[in-house]
Amino acid sequence: MNDDSFFTLSVHAGEDRTANFGALSVPIYPASVFAFADADEGIAIHNYEKEGYFYGRLGNPTVDALERTVAELENGEAGLAFASGMAAVSAAAFTLVGSGDHVVAPESMYSTTTNFLKHIGEAFGVETTFVDAADAEAYAAAIRPNTKMFWIETPSNPLVRITDIAEVAAIGKKSRVATVVDNTFATPFNQRPLELGADLVIHSATKYLGGHSDLTAGVMIGQRDLVEKARHGAAKLYGGNIAPQVAWLVLRGIKTLGLRMERHNSNASALANMLLEHPKVAGVYYPGLEHHQNHEIARRQMRGFGGMLGADVGTADAAKSLVDNLKVCTFATSLGGVETLIQPVALMTHATLSPGERAAAGVSEGLLRISVGIESIADICQDIYDVLG
Ligand SMILES: Cc1ncc(COP(=O)(O)O)c(C=O)c1O
Repeated sequence: MNDDSFFTLSVHAGEDRTANFGALSVPIYPASVFAFADADEGIAIHNYEKEGYFYGRLGNPTVDALERTVAELENGEAGLAFASGMAAVSAAAFTLVGSGDHVVAPESMYSTTTNFLKHIGEAFGVETTFVDAADAEAYAAAIRPNTKMFWIETPSNPLVRITDIAEVAAIGKKSRVATVVDNTFATPFNQRPLELGADLVIHSATKYLGGHSDLTAGVMIGQRDLVEKARHGAAKLYGGNIAPQVAWLVLRGIKTLGLRMERHNSNASALANMLLEHPKVAGVYYPGLEHHQNHEIARRQMRGFGGMLGADVGTADAAKSLVDNLKVCTFATSLGGVETLIQPVALMTHATLSPGERAAAGVSEGLLRISVGIESIADICQDIYDVLG
């Protein structure tokens, strides 16, 4: 793919000009039930011997369009959509591991994924070893005979740590361990894990894929056999299916994914460099900065460095005072929308972890997570400078 063709892909991925009277916008099919033409056809569709739809949880044309689209964006064989990113996370895990199996995952990542892995440890005996994912060899060292899944989140939430996808996936392949990459922060504009050897990619589509802070959704992409296993197993049994109305909103968001990501990348890079110079900022975390621990790996596997960064303003009080006084940027907890969102990490997303766990995850009390939006970078910087002084 040449540098610019992702912009074309964002606009046209998944489209079928022969369907729906040529409608450029995929119609929303709200139906939860589809009638059969006759007994033979009904039985064939119901038993997956013939293509078609019969029940909302198990397939819908609008949802199908989204699944085709995200599969193309990630250069995967098949896609599967969910009601949330966590439904995609849990479906990936339940597709690849069972009772008594073992998982290797980052010690610093989205805290609900951490808590989910701990939960399946307690509930089902699926043990997870949490490692320093900045070091690919840590995955190799953690392998046990019953290891079935490597989990990667890169850049990770909230410290934008970078994991070498190709290296971890290669270690996994040698030991018949499947590698799953949470590609929420990077998006396929910046990084395509399946091309680097990963087996499954998941996203919280709530974030950049949707892009407008107006929906909750998740997706999974990978080889067809694995995705179909998820569709007929975890997705069907646990039922976290996406609503067609929401699938349509994600599809609309994706049309501008390339444009938005280009701007998120450049704004975040400018803000990271600006904060680096500020005397009250004790640390800046951004994979595009040369001093970032794995900057070289990020350069190799990413096209741009993303819209997320971390900034340590020293104390929890300083972090609170900053979010209390913003005028352009918004104090809110999500990420990946067009607006700049800032949140104090230790007091919010990582509040469920113990202080020791937070310290192990590298989350200091003054850490702010900044989802840099697509506003004027001058206005974003001025807003933060006005408060920091
Ligand atoms: C990296 C990452 N993965 C997964 C999720 C979960 O997504 P959702 O909130 O859509 O369930 C989030 C949410 O913040 C996230 O940041």
